[in-house]
Amino acid sequence: MKVLHMHGPPYKKMKVSKNLDRKKDVSTSFEYHKLCEARRKLPIYPVQNRLVQEVRRLNTVIVIGETGSGKTTQIPQFLFRAEVHRGSQIAITQPRRVAAVTVAKRVAQEMKSELGKLVGYCVRFEDVTSESTRIKYMTDGMLLREAIIDPLMRRYSVVILDEAHERTIHTDVLFGVVKAAQRQRAKKGLKPLKIVVMSATMDVDHFSEYFNSAPVLYLEGRQFPVNVYYSCCTQSDYQFAALVTLGQIHKQAPPNHDVLMFLTGQDEIESMVRFVRDIGRSLEGQAPPIIACPLYAALPPQVQLRVFNRTPPGARKVVIATNIAETSVTIPGIKFVIDPGMVKARVFNPRSGLDLLKVVRISKAQALQRTGRAGRESSGSCYRLYTEQEFDSFKLNTVPEIQKGDLNIKRMCSLSSVVLQLMALGISDLIHFDFMDRPSKESIITAVDELHLLGAVEKREKIQLTALGKQMAAFPLEPRLSKVILVAKEFSCLEEIMSIVSLLSGESVFYTPHKAREEALAARRKFMSTEGDHISLLNIYKTYKSVGGNKNWCMENYIHQRNMKTALDVRNQLREICDRQNLPFKSCRDDTVAIRKCLTAGFFMNAAELQREGTYICLSTRRPVSIHPSSSLFRSKPGYVLYNELIQTSKCYMRDLCVVDPDWLYEAAPSHFKRKKLPT
Ligand code: CDP
Ligand code: MG
Repeated sequence: MKVLHMHGPPYKKMKVSKNLDRKKDVSTSFEYHKLCEARRKLPIYPVQNRLVQEVRRLNTVIVIGETGSGKTTQIPQFLFRAEVHRGSQIAITQPRRVAAVTVAKRVAQEMKSELGKLVGYCVRFEDVTSESTRIKYMTDGMLLREAIIDPLMRRYSVVILDEAHERTIHTDVLFGVVKAAQRQRAKKGLKPLKIVVMSATMDVDHFSEYFNSAPVLYLEGRQFPVNVYYSCCTQSDYQFAALVTLGQIHKQAPPNHDVLMFLTGQDEIESMVRFVRDIGRSLEGQAPPIIACPLYAALPPQVQLRVFNRTPPGARKVVIATNIAETSVTIPGIKFVIDPGMVKARVFNPRSGLDLLKVVRISKAQALQRTGRAGRESSGSCYRLYTEQEFDSFKLNTVPEIQKGDLNIKRMCSLSSVVLQLMALGISDLIHFDFMDRPSKESIITAVDELHLLGAVEKREKIQLTALGKQMAAFPLEPRLSKVILVAKEFSCLEEIMSIVSLLSGESVFYTPHKAREEALAARRKFMSTEGDHISLLNIYKTYKSVGGNKNWCMENYIHQRNMKTALDVRNQLREICDRQNLPFKSCRDDTVAIRKCLTAGFFMNAAELQREGTYICLSTRRPVSIHPSSSLFRSKPGYVLYNELIQTSKCYMRDLCVVDPDWLYEAAPSHFKRKKLPT
């Protein structure tokens, strides 16, 4: 293995003054005192006056600082205390729901305010704010939705665009929308809109240029040296390599030297957690006890917070996380990082309009961020499970989602939902919208085509939203799902569709512990429908309601009670939107044909046909696809199915399937299927 020394990034450009605010803290509680002490030590602390001055003086400021320097938690508080917000709200956007929620909790604690009062958060299907909220953490998607109702963003005096380096589609579009709001407000003589862009990486010239040469404040990093070890040969199984590396570290490193391992998603992480616990048990007495903590977006918040606990003396914490731990959250105690160099991305092919989840290589910038996690509190080590040559072939920066996918299958998450929102904002000329990095014309056209097929836009002299499209934009859902909801009126099955959509929108309601896999599957078999997973979900929902959400019933049937409750909550919120749109809440009882026809109206582009040799082919793309083993249709193999999403692992799997009749496909989108010569 080769050793390389990495020091902190070269923070050079503009040094900032160090006027320490020595205001006395009045709190008496010891815990709170410790919290304040820790805050005073953050790299952001010495520059607070300078920062406030800059934001007062200018309309847009860019702040760069390593993860953990205090940007997300402290800057809103500085601006609030200095009254830069002038009585209105400060919005801080996050690409991830988890970050918005955990950070809001932390800041509420720091400000000694109940969550939802002074400090609150707003994420999809959950609004924890009130009249008195001044600091509001929200997902970028939520702020974008608010802008549809008020493009001038009048309730905010400051908008902080956090984690700008992640370049998610929503953040990128927000750049343009917020910039336009700022300009419009100035033009109309309204209260100025201050914009703060925050990033953890140095690649900011681009941001500055886009925001009319906004100044960049560099925070002095507190990065300790990290030894970087490369793998000496290519690893064919990165999970295995990660486990072996962890085993070696665990045998040799002193206790309380904690480990952070990056993996790509929930399944990988959960199975790794089990392996790690096994290692812990097998080395009992020879090595420190292991505390294995998973960390991924879908994890319940209480469990997520466990990673922030200090490790008890003599033990070792092993955090196994997705790229959340790259920049969004800072975990104390980490001395070792294990980086397989992979990340799961929602990738999209503009030519086929196909969305799928795929494990791909990280960028060099991401590798650097991961390495940096080992040197936050003292020097550390990073094990890269790829060779130096492989590293050289990584892309320099993460490609903005909005630009991914000019060729092959690259772009994350379909653009159609963003295009629909932009059109609802009154921006119809998407080709000339002030994007920081323009998506390809081809991908915009694919998105518009999809919306056209769904009936959301019409092409006259110019492209415009239809009445249906306007209604669709009111739902915080993918256009396909909103379409299904709106079409339910025709089939008189909104009641059932709402249940299905709510269950599909949240985390899985199936609870399948590793040790009781067979029991879980057997217990749930009675709900499984030969018509597919949507109907199975509906059966579960109905039974759950009929037993009054009984906890024992959930346990006996291996149903995730909390996720079920969340789905019910989502359903109520979607119902409110339906009520506002006067959609009749009718039930079709057991007419599953109506339900499946309704699903076809939104998902006809995700149709697959059984081939003679027993495999499936996607009708829109002619790609081979397979039924995911978790599906109730895995063994029955019907002639035609619809799927909700594709995941690419060893094969391209369809997940959440529904049996359909080929005639329904044609009825749902005659123009789409004419070309494909669908056998009738
Ligand atoms: O945004 P940035 O990465 O610059 O830092 P931050 O998220 O504001 O975090 C500043 C410090 O607060 C970190 O060192 C974390 O240890 C701590 N923090 C925490 O303990 N719990 C949280 N939920 C968030 C932050
Ligand atoms: Mg942050």
